[in-house]
Amino acid sequence: MISPSLLSANFANLEAEMKWFNQSAADWLHIDVMDGVFVPNISFGFPVLKHVARISEKPLDVHLMIVQPEKFVNEVKALGAYLMNVHYEACPHLHRVVSQIHEAGMKAGVTLNPATPVSVLEDIACDVDLVLLMSVNPGFGGQKFIPHTLKKVAELRRLLTRTESKALIEVDGGVNLDTGRLLTEAGADVLVAGNFIFGADDPRKACEALANCAS
Ligand code: DX5
Ligand code: ZN
Repeated sequence: MISPSLLSANFANLEAEMKWFNQSAADWLHIDVMDGVFVPNISFGFPVLKHVARISEKPLDVHLMIVQPEKFVNEVKALGAYLMNVHYEACPHLHRVVSQIHEAGMKAGVTLNPATPVSVLEDIACDVDLVLLMSVNPGFGGQKFIPHTLKKVAELRRLLTRTESKALIEVDGGVNLDTGRLLTEAGADVLVAGNFIFGADDPRKACEALANCAS
């Protein structure tokens, strides 16, 4: 599955971006919310996203790179989001946050930074619907893929099998046709791509090419 990241879109013309997106091979729309605290950047907030949500015809995959993400469960729900991803590193009470997301009627995803080992998921894997592995340090689009992620995907696949978890594996950062193919071979289910898709001359075509390389 492919989840293009809105972070690399032309924010001065979101309506045009959503037009090709709605007609593309994309499965989800990946939405990166940043707070300038958890990550050293700020992206967009809910007043902007409510307009995007209104015109997206595909499920929203919301990636919160913020401290205390539990404060925003209702805001994310109000967007009509399909999936709410919170960072393991931002949630001392992760089990409670995952329950809150489920109670709000959304799928729950847990995200790991590049330096966080997959072993921390041992006791939560069964309770989540998706694990998002960061293959760059979060905060910016267009960064270089960290190759160690390939080992983490394979290790996560083993952990999910062992714990009988049905969680999907999503990977975010530096995804292109080469890294996308390697990630799919390693066991990834969902690929996030910002720069590779939105930075292409023909984003719809780039999205289709990535979907083909991942199938
Ligand atoms: C980075 C974000 C990513 C970003 C990926 O912090 O979480 O979703 O948009 O961008 P690319 O695909 O350009 O690395
Ligand atoms: Zn992201």
